[in-house]
Amino acid sequence: MSETIHVSAGNEWWRNAVVYQVYPRSFADANGDGTGDVEGIRSRIPYLAKLGIDAIWMNPWYPSPLLDGGYDVADYRSIAPMFGSLDDAQALIEDAHRAGIKVIVDLVPNHTSWDHEWFVEALAAAPRSPARDRYIFREGKGIDGELPPTNWSSVFGGPAWSRCDDGQWYLHLFDISQPDLNWHHPEVRAEFRDIFRFWIDLGVDGFRVDVAHGLIKDLSFPDLDLASEILTVGHIDNHPHWDRDEVHDIIREWRAVLNEKEAEYNKDLMMVAEAWVKAESVPLYLRPDEYHQSFNFDFVGCPWDVDQMRSSIARALVDAASVNSSATWVLSNHDVLRHPTRYGLPAGTDYQEWLMTGPTELCDQQLGTQRGLAVIMMLLALPGSTYIYQGEELGLHEVPDLPHDVLDDPVWRRSENTRKGRDGCRVPIPWTQTGPSFGFGEGAPWLPQPAHFSDQSVEAQDGVDGSILELYRSALALRSAHWVERGDLTWLNVDSNAIAFERNRYASITNFGDSNIALPPGEVMLTSSQPAQQDQLAPNTTVWLRLT
Ligand code: NOJ
Repeated sequence: MSETIHVSAGNEWWRNAVVYQVYPRSFADANGDGTGDVEGIRSRIPYLAKLGIDAIWMNPWYPSPLLDGGYDVADYRSIAPMFGSLDDAQALIEDAHRAGIKVIVDLVPNHTSWDHEWFVEALAAAPRSPARDRYIFREGKGIDGELPPTNWSSVFGGPAWSRCDDGQWYLHLFDISQPDLNWHHPEVRAEFRDIFRFWIDLGVDGFRVDVAHGLIKDLSFPDLDLASEILTVGHIDNHPHWDRDEVHDIIREWRAVLNEKEAEYNKDLMMVAEAWVKAESVPLYLRPDEYHQSFNFDFVGCPWDVDQMRSSIARALVDAASVNSSATWVLSNHDVLRHPTRYGLPAGTDYQEWLMTGPTELCDQQLGTQRGLAVIMMLLALPGSTYIYQGEELGLHEVPDLPHDVLDDPVWRRSENTRKGRDGCRVPIPWTQTGPSFGFGEGAPWLPQPAHFSDQSVEAQDGVDGSILELYRSALALRSAHWVERGDLTWLNVDSNAIAFERNRYASITNFGDSNIALPPGEVMLTSSQPAQQDQLAPNTTVWLRLT
């Protein structure tokens, strides 16, 4: 393979941004209540600036009963008191901007919390009254309507419908506390256009849109043959509630709002879609009047495999260029097993089964870490933007063995304790080697940290040659100096076990095999683990070369 892939032109900041994902509950706790907060995040802006990122994406920070980690929003125009206030949020945005960092907020339009005033009003109203129309209430089946209107499953397990005291059912594709909104309702549409405006007026630069492939439901309510699975949905045609054509009309409405505001503020805004759809559908979300970017979940699903990763990369680049977007690279987030753990588990491991039954040692941590570093370096050299999940720059692995009584994910609850969910990737960040929560805060953290977090803390790695944190810092600095705007990519034929490409005389080569690979002549800029010796690249390693 030696063809060239063209990269779309455009100088908007998001095209090549390194975006750092902050999970506010677990980042830094300034007030000592065991939960992270906005002041904690503000205090770490110098750390983020030194890391070399371009933007932060804040997971939901709105008032919420936190029955799904904040994706159950009770008020879209405010900040949860446990995280701070709107003034704090504004101060954070200003601090970030002063440090040259953009801010992306998370918008959750598919559902609200059951504590949202609209749902409270809907439940208090009579069946079939207008207040219920903003959600999806229906009569049940069976003689007394005692059966749910359809057989749809909640992504978190159990049925997607719950029955109210008055006999009607409401739809919730996620937790029972997350009623789905009715996106055929004009008030719902107007409300969200206004929420976009609200946050742009407060100063944010972009939006990560939750369940972007959801929103529209087939109102003839056909039954489904398949059970939904957590977040891997949207892969069948004409699905009654995922990836339906009409969703694109809504996206266009939002884009029009962003375009108007771009003109008003004279700055580039962006929306990135969390759309778990089949790879062929992704470009549809990226048409010029829709999203700017969409997360590349296809790559998240790739195991450590040279061919799968190479074709996933090629496809993402070609697809993004076909719609003048830019590719996105994601390895970890708050919903998936941390990637060093994925790459350290034997090929084909069922992650859920491993989380439930172990053994922990099945994961070769050192190998997973090494491979994780090789992959992130490869991604940072590619055209497009990279999303980094907090703690990956410290080399954190999944914490698979949290005590059952602290598990908080609705997946654990709704599956009646048969599926563990996502708590293991949400454990608070270790900042120092000692202290009650390794510098996360003064109190006991909302999820306990394992003892080895001490050695992985920022303090343990800061300024230490060869540490993962320093490798990330070097890689980000070199990326912005040399890779960004290097233009088109040409595959290099180096070895069948390598992913190797060149961008205007700079090359990145990753060794997926078991033996060394001979390198083309060049000057080594950075390697992900052992230095390349005698023009050889060790297994599980990436090197960046300036070709000579
Ligand atoms: C996707 C979010 O990333 C996830 O954390 C959440 O549980 C679901 N959407 C429902 O909002």
